[in-house]
Amino acid sequence: MFKGLQQKWKVSGWQLLLIITTFALGGSLCGYSGRKILGLFAIDSSLPRVILYLLLITLLWPLCVLIISIPLGQFAFFKTYINKIGRRIFGKRRQTTDNKPQEETTTVHRPSSFVRIAIFASGAGSNARAIINHFRNSPAVKVALIVSNKPEAGVLKIASTENIPSLIIEKEKFFRGNAYVDELKEKGIDFVVLAGFLWKVPSALIKAYQNKIINIHPALLPKYGGKGMYGAHVHEAVIANKETESGITIHYVDELYDHGSIILQAKCEVTENDTPESLAGKIHTLEHLHYPTAVETLLTKH
Ligand code: GRF
Repeated sequence: MFKGLQQKWKVSGWQLLLIITTFALGGSLCGYSGRKILGLFAIDSSLPRVILYLLLITLLWPLCVLIISIPLGQFAFFKTYINKIGRRIFGKRRQTTDNKPQEETTTVHRPSSFVRIAIFASGAGSNARAIINHFRNSPAVKVALIVSNKPEAGVLKIASTENIPSLIIEKEKFFRGNAYVDELKEKGIDFVVLAGFLWKVPSALIKAYQNKIINIHPALLPKYGGKGMYGAHVHEAVIANKETESGITIHYVDELYDHGSIILQAKCEVTENDTPESLAGKIHTLEHLHYPTAVETLLTKH
């Protein structure tokens, strides 16, 4: 049963545990608050009491579950879940009373209502995967395209398993042609997310997507940024300099390497025992935690 739920909601085992805990605690909070509020009304007869109680817990349940989901880090999941239930209930109810076809009565999120993002990546694509997972059920944001300069990049396998269109780009056209701007516009791309993309972004693309291209860097910029500072080189330099902390930087992309204004930074400790590999692991954990939510905040909360 748990495996089935995991597949249905496309979550990890750990997240499923947190979701079930949220349901349990949210349900208890809802029952408790319902009884407290019921106590404020002086109703003796049992049928109206039961009806009022049922009404109260129906109204309180979404609120209680959302409140509990915040400290357990499951707010995004429950927001989408409750929205879906709402759409189902209210969509269907109107359909039966108005007797109109379903398209006119339910909220249909047509592709044009999504913010369509393209993820540019040259490597394994673990950040791309985290972003795809995060927006899988999103009514607002859609990962519409994966772009890579490397035909053998792991990220392209992810795109194919996830049925996301992909585009392999060529150097000549990227740097001396139109930087694929026409193709991106044709595919309705609104926002570009770089996730381990190793080519510099040409100015034609930056101009076409002003303040709409962001990048993640595996260190605390402005330190350990610039040409040649990518992947293991960054972590080796951090360890060689005996830094006691490192982290991630999410920033807008401008015409210089790792230079645009900073959106978010998060830190982790660097210990004497850390190797470039162990530090890369810590950095990846931070990236997967923060990059998807940073994209969501930029695209939906402004
Ligand atoms: C990440 O560490 C990111 O900070 C850097 O490239 C790496 C990409 O990793 N820009 P992955 O391909 O997403 O696993």
